[in-house]
Amino acid sequence: MKLQGNTILITGGSAGIGLAMAKEFVSLGNTVIITGRNADKLEAARKETPALEIIRSDAANPSAVQALATEVAERFPAMNVLVNNAGVMIPRNHTGPADDLVALTAELDVNLAGPIRMISVLIDRLKANRGTIINVSSGLAFVPLQLSPIYCATKAALHSYTISLRQQLKDEGVEVIELMPPAVHTELTADMPDDGDFKVLTTAQLMEETFKGLRAGRLEIRPGQANQLYWMARIAPGFINAQLEKGSKSMVPPPDSN
Ligand SMILES: NC(=O)c1ccc[n+]([C@@H]2O[C@H](COP(=O)([O-])OP(=O)(O)OC[C@H]3O[C@@H](n4cnc5c(N)ncnc54)[C@H](OP(=O)(O)O)[C@@H]3O)[C@@H](O)[C@H]2O)c1
Repeated sequence: MKLQGNTILITGGSAGIGLAMAKEFVSLGNTVIITGRNADKLEAARKETPALEIIRSDAANPSAVQALATEVAERFPAMNVLVNNAGVMIPRNHTGPADDLVALTAELDVNLAGPIRMISVLIDRLKANRGTIINVSSGLAFVPLQLSPIYCATKAALHSYTISLRQQLKDEGVEVIELMPPAVHTELTADMPDDGDFKVLTTAQLMEETFKGLRAGRLEIRPGQANQLYWMARIAPGFINAQLEKGSKSMVPPPDSN
């Protein structure tokens, strides 16, 4: 994709990786619209970077996704890049029953159904504008981490979906890119230890690798340890699964936390 002159919609752009990407795209000369659920966080992001456009919207809610597409069509008809970044990771213990069966699968709605619905409501615009989709999955698409079993399952599913989507859109003029970050310091990883097993990047380090990948035209960008997980999952899956099992055992919450 070209890196300037785009109109870019980033879901979950009010914090963490989405906000870092939004700022980088603004600095390169793009119009950037960010979404999120919390209006205060969106306002704070715009205060820091006044060029940002903000729209409050929940990527897990189908009617909010539809309303977002309508607003984008009215206000930003040139929108040509969709970044599906909004995501949540919830530590879970499945050795006991969950109290709330709806809350149990909340990650599916944000991390997997969210991108699928966003792409569906915006696909005609993306095709008309010969655009780009960037799905933010994770290095955990390649290997499970017992700390957050549903999160890892959503990222593995998003990875598979992204490959099929890329193949379907190949002749439609829409490029499909997948960003697969390793552990990065954000709210999402606030409780994750930064020790020998997990090297946690800053958002600035992640952006450096991400934009290097975008400039090189890479369709699957796997910064740092995400690339190691990719290779280990192919070369020595038993070994890497055992390593991660050991490293994450103490991080699993107690069963009554469900
Ligand atoms: N941090 C990591 O180590 C890491 C590693 C690999 C992949 N990733 C992926 O990178 C993406 C961003 O993660 P992050 O670490 O930057 O998380 P973060 O710091 O927690 O930020 C998440 C952003 O998404 C928004 N958000 C959450 N749920 C949403 C929803 N339902 N609808 C719209 N916006 C929503 C949040 O704002 P509101 O709360 O106001 O909605 C916030 O702006 C996620 O897809 C995550 O899985 C992160």
